[in-house]
Amino acid sequence: MKKIALGASGVRVAQMGTGTWSWGDGMYWGYGDGYGEPDIRAAFDASVRAGIDFFDTAEIYGFGKSEKFIGQFARADAAAVQVATKFFPLPWRLTRNQIVAALRGSLKRLGREYVDLYQIHWPSPLLSLETMMDGMAETVEKGLTRAVGVSNFNATQTRRAHARLAKYNIPLASNQIQFNLLERGPDFGGLTETCRELNVTIIAYSPLQYGMLTGKYTPDHTPRGARSRQFTAAYLAQIQPLIATLKEIGEKYGGKTSSQVALNWVMQRGALPIPGAKTVKQLNENAGALGWDLSADDMALLNDSSARVSKNGQRES
Ligand SMILES: NC(=O)c1ccc[n+]([C@@H]2O[C@H](COP(=O)([O-])OP(=O)(O)OC[C@H]3O[C@@H](n4cnc5c(N)ncnc54)[C@H](OP(=O)(O)O)[C@@H]3O)[C@@H](O)[C@H]2O)c1
Repeated sequence: MKKIALGASGVRVAQMGTGTWSWGDGMYWGYGDGYGEPDIRAAFDASVRAGIDFFDTAEIYGFGKSEKFIGQFARADAAAVQVATKFFPLPWRLTRNQIVAALRGSLKRLGREYVDLYQIHWPSPLLSLETMMDGMAETVEKGLTRAVGVSNFNATQTRRAHARLAKYNIPLASNQIQFNLLERGPDFGGLTETCRELNVTIIAYSPLQYGMLTGKYTPDHTPRGARSRQFTAAYLAQIQPLIATLKEIGEKYGGKTSSQVALNWVMQRGALPIPGAKTVKQLNENAGALGWDLSADDMALLNDSSARVSKNGQRES
């Protein structure tokens, strides 16, 4: 498995990770309805077997269940996996000490002494970025994390976080953002450029656009549950030309699926995708995005096709 550096932190992780929001989350993903613990345990094992030994979680995923599952599944050999988790700036968390305390809570659930990456989940109107970074620096100094990152930060916020951490001689390792063929906002708002300039690795969340880039959802087969509000039949009708392009391109590479092509596009863009998988079948399919490269011509084709259908596409020129 090719490893990539998380910015200048010195931490290296697999070039693709596994996202674990759905592991224990009933509210958005419907955990317990159609998939459960045996499925995600099998997905975890398959992930490690495939060399995808970097897991992304957060204290709020399933209100701690996702972290607990990872701790439980990795118990036999905690050192065999690398873990990233996140601090959520709940409105009563207003001091740097609360960041340290939150990470200690995550570590307890994970059954680990430290994580490989600790991230601020979202910026907050109540807690300044500078205070957040002071707290993050303390988690590094206390040996509770090897690297620090942010998530959902725009270009200006990324610069501020980077500058504050520099006072402690700590690099900002990563910014975890929604980035996929249907969500190209970071390309057009200057964020991908800023991250490149500052050597901040982009971790691409929802790299399959919540499953929409798998091609399994169509105007006649829309997703159930919380996703049904956002991903309507009209939305799915609009993205079908891109799905067709993904499938056509996949054929040229010996029958790669649209998910595999979509994930390969993210990696070719220099970002680290963390697709979520509910089952071993999904995990193994996503692992098939590794070990081959889309050509420059096919990248161009995909960029063009995505710009036509993504909501940010009209800003590309
Ligand atoms: N920092 C943040 O604010 C933030 C926000 C969102 C996500 N994340 C992170 O990013 C990770 C991934 O994002 P995500 O889970 O939102 O979306 P995603 O990776 O784009 O989509 C995951 C979903 O797509 C479906 N799927 C995945 N692989 C498939 C395959 N090969 N074939 C068919 N269906 C497949 C599954 O749902 P169905 O089977 O139900 O369709 C799966 O739960 C999360 O787990 C989390 O770690 C972070």
